[in-house]
Amino acid sequence: MVRKQKILVTGGTGYIGSHTVVELLAAGFEVIIADSFFNSNKEVLAGIKEITKVETEFIEMDFCNEKSVDQLFEKHPDFDAVIHFAAFKAVGESVANPLLYYKNNLFSLVNLLKKCIISKVDNIIFSSSCTVYGNPDSLPVSENAAIKLAESPYGNTKQIGEEILRDTVKSSDLKVIALRYFNPIGAHDTAAIGELPLGIPNNLVPFITQTAIGLREKITVFGDDYSTPDGSCVRDYIHVVDIAKAHVIACQRLLDQKNKANYEVFNLGTGNGNSVLEVIKTFEKVSGKLLNYMIGNRRAGDVEQVYADTKFANEELGWKAERNLENMLSTAWEWEESISLKK
Ligand code: UD1
Repeated sequence: MVRKQKILVTGGTGYIGSHTVVELLAAGFEVIIADSFFNSNKEVLAGIKEITKVETEFIEMDFCNEKSVDQLFEKHPDFDAVIHFAAFKAVGESVANPLLYYKNNLFSLVNLLKKCIISKVDNIIFSSSCTVYGNPDSLPVSENAAIKLAESPYGNTKQIGEEILRDTVKSSDLKVIALRYFNPIGAHDTAAIGELPLGIPNNLVPFITQTAIGLREKITVFGDDYSTPDGSCVRDYIHVVDIAKAHVIACQRLLDQKNKANYEVFNLGTGNGNSVLEVIKTFEKVSGKLLNYMIGNRRAGDVEQVYADTKFANEELGWKAERNLENMLSTAWEWEESISLKK
């Protein structure tokens, strides 16, 4: 029997990680999930199994703990690639506790890279974010746009993470693809996995679905006086399954040695900008629910509008987002309804 290629997915029970595990298994890879459960839980593994019918090996560990990283690579000295999702991602929390973010997001990356170099695991996919562009000078924003001073320690960990990788490929055999996500939303079509925010959600779509299901009284639109068509902020919302599929393609690109440089960066967006009010209206349409929303003040640190130039990802990576906003919001809603039934 031909050996399956083995992929380590750190943070594999998180929101994007879990959807990526499903797509990797569907593409025929063997997957090892490593996660600390700091921001996720065991039920995600059950959801992955429900969809894929595969019992995926899971290791509970923290990549900040070097010993645990050593043990993982002792057990599995033969990873073909690593997809590194494990990181904290709450902007507000990072402002309140920057050292927690610098330590968690950067120590873990350094520990992982050290071990990958020693073990000759050369192929790495890194979770980056459109937050590295800050308030872009022109739209749509391409991979060559200037990196702006980070708005938050969280954003800075993504910028520094990219710098660490860019420097490390120069002195090693590592090959890295950094994927800059725009705004991932939606859930798996089966509603067996989706986004599981802890406590009060920071992000728009979980707040919308929790309001519609009755967990929150109302949602506030953060400002309607921006220089956008309807005055609310514009983002490039992208289905999490489209994002997950891009990881499989990026991974295959490295494994097939199709990469053109040892450090590559791709935007993962649809290329469309949608306003907060458009998202609310589309949600109301697909769910049949009227949303209790009000217009409030701007949120500190928010960018007026950002959406991706997808040309490089479309043409060079050979990936294109396929799902529209209606599908993103209907799957997010089905997921919210499915978790409310389980409670
Ligand atoms: C945020 C982070 C970004 C991070 C991403 C990870 C900030 C400033 N940016 O992106 O760095 O990579 O999450 O998921 O936090 N909105 C409302 N009401 C709400 C919530 C959001 O109007 O209750 C609006 C926001 O003003 C924004 C849009 O919805 O215009 C999207 O917000 P959100 O989902 O939080 O994502 P970003 O802020 O774009």
